[in-house]
Amino acid sequence: MILEGPNFYDDAAIFDNYMKRRERADTPNDTLELPIVEELLGSPAGQDFLDLGCGDGRFGVKLLGREASSYIGVDGSENMIRAAQENLSGTAGIAMRMKLEALDLQAAKYSRVSARLVLHYIEDLTHTLREVAKSLKQNGLFVFSVEHPVITSSDLASKESGLRQNWTVDDYFNAGPRVTSWMGGSVVKHHRAVEDYFAAVRAAGLQVESLREARPRRENFSDEALFLRRKRIPLFLIIAARKPTRTDA
Ligand SMILES: C[S@@+](CC[C@H](N)C(=O)[O-])C[C@H]1O[C@@H](n2cnc3c(N)ncnc32)[C@H](O)[C@@H]1O
Repeated sequence: MILEGPNFYDDAAIFDNYMKRRERADTPNDTLELPIVEELLGSPAGQDFLDLGCGDGRFGVKLLGREASSYIGVDGSENMIRAAQENLSGTAGIAMRMKLEALDLQAAKYSRVSARLVLHYIEDLTHTLREVAKSLKQNGLFVFSVEHPVITSSDLASKESGLRQNWTVDDYFNAGPRVTSWMGGSVVKHHRAVEDYFAAVRAAGLQVESLREARPRRENFSDEALFLRRKRIPLFLIIAARKPTRTDA
């Protein structure tokens, strides 16, 4: 069965696999994606956070532990929201179940919006990005990560057995859904070229400040061989964009 977005994470076996995978040492999330997201967001102290596709909410626990003023996580998966509510219990953080396609956010409420590894599940980013721009305070910052477009456009045949040794990128400029086998299931991820993400963020009225590809840093890895492997191909694209102040507009 091919699953989409939050429904994928609401399959019990897939959810279990995903959570176990995230506990491993040197995951790509911990070694590559998170360090860049944190660098681009800057100090969380005193910031009001909205976290889209918040998953199990552990990012929120970390942000609040570093003096973020507030944290609201939104996710479409029942399993994820249950885990997020558990993880956030005893903190000031809140987790709410909602699909990003249905967002209707309060204007000028947040100084930081994050969306880590969720936007490649969304078919049309227009509504979500407009809501992000609306919900940011002036000068507020939006940081998101997605699976890198060379990964969402590389074919499944090159992934079939064991540790992947080659990545065949094809139909790169054809944005659209691609079905992939992952975590023991089949899931739809929406491929876009790097320039499509860049243009979509600008079209929402945000100013792109940084574009990063999570270049591996030796100090983030306990294993030299894995560090060398991670230098072969980019796994993540990360963009930071700011809501202009009125005088910038
Ligand atoms: C790869 S996980 C990332 C979780 C978390 N941001 C992290 O980095 O640990 C993707 C998350 O996006 C959520 N998601 C996917 N599509 C969504 C949608 N259309 N609306 C809301 N959440 C969605 C999933 O339920 C899942 O929790």
